[in-house]
Amino acid sequence: MNETEKTTPKPLLRALAGETLPRPPIWLMRQAGRYLPEYRAVREQAGGFLDLCYNPELAAEVTLQPIRRFGFDAAILFADILLIPDALGQKLWFEPGEGPRLDPVSDAGALREADAIHERLAPVYETVSRVRAALPADVALIGFAGAPWTVLSYMIAGRGTPDQGPAHALMRERPEAFSALLDRVTEATILYLSRQIEAGAEAVKIFDSWAGSLPDPWFDMASVEPCRRIVSALKAKHPGVPVIGFPRGVGARAARFAEATGVDGVAIGQDADILWARDVLQPIATVQGNMDPALMVTGGEAMDAAARRIVDVLGGGPFIFNLGHGITPDADPRNVERLVRLVKG
Ligand code: CP3
Repeated sequence: MNETEKTTPKPLLRALAGETLPRPPIWLMRQAGRYLPEYRAVREQAGGFLDLCYNPELAAEVTLQPIRRFGFDAAILFADILLIPDALGQKLWFEPGEGPRLDPVSDAGALREADAIHERLAPVYETVSRVRAALPADVALIGFAGAPWTVLSYMIAGRGTPDQGPAHALMRERPEAFSALLDRVTEATILYLSRQIEAGAEAVKIFDSWAGSLPDPWFDMASVEPCRRIVSALKAKHPGVPVIGFPRGVGARAARFAEATGVDGVAIGQDADILWARDVLQPIATVQGNMDPALMVTGGEAMDAAARRIVDVLGGGPFIFNLGHGITPDADPRNVERLVRLVKG
């Protein structure tokens, strides 16, 4: 399916190929989510959040909702980074109003082999195919996975933590056990993203949401190196498919990440220095992001001004408009509509 598209590249794919477009493509992290009443209705119908992730019909529907409502340039597969631990046999559930819970692991021996994940994840691949078939011709489909370090920070702690403390402790106290876990999740992630691409994903994104908590040299070992392995394995198998990396909160080390991993695009948080991103990051990779998600709650002139400044500074090079992190449940859909109109000019 990817071959036929090569004649008329979609704006998102052109930007990821390094083109500077007359206006940047736009999509938002967590664009399918609780700030949308139509998402909440489908979520209710599905039962739990995981039931929604594993229901191809409903997951495809919520993936497409923000495309219909706002006209974004990309859809992102509706799923979660914690489906990998689930597929590796680790017990996972979502505590209502709180977040993810897992039975903590500290040994790879407690997990299934990487190639056993597909049985559980087959519905996700079906969601990808369904969305791809239903998307407008100029909208690209992004697949995704968590980066091994970020996924492991949940697997080891059994929940979200403010400082990823339990994962840091295992990394330092039992480096072999940590490294075996890192390898297992890295292998599973390569297989998972490959299948998403085969099912119709046209680009993939690797979320290293907690990379910022890794001091050097741990950053290179636990974030850069596994992401480099994933990118190089995907490039060997699917050479035309771009990869976006999101090493959140790592400051100037995002340049090292982009260079060493070989990603085509690098997503930056709202903490990043936008002039540095223009001068240092953009010559290495297409830049995505930076807008503060809090502005989607308050909107108004402050939101418009922030968006204009980002487009002014980064729009002169390869750039994809996005937030610096996921849109929050209290965001106002009318602000999103206004933002899309502004960016699309
Ligand atoms: O961006 C998208 O629209 C695609 C779908 C997507 C979800 N999660 C859906 C989701 C993506 C790309 C993710 C990634 C994800 N999941 C990350 C990395 C990005 C980031 O935000 O840093 C992380 C750390 C997770 C793990 C996770 N999933 C947590 C910590 C939580 C609970 C917090 C919360 O926001 O509720 C989730 C649940 C989750 N994942 C929801 C959605 C829409 C909310 C579930 C609900 O409907 O109740």
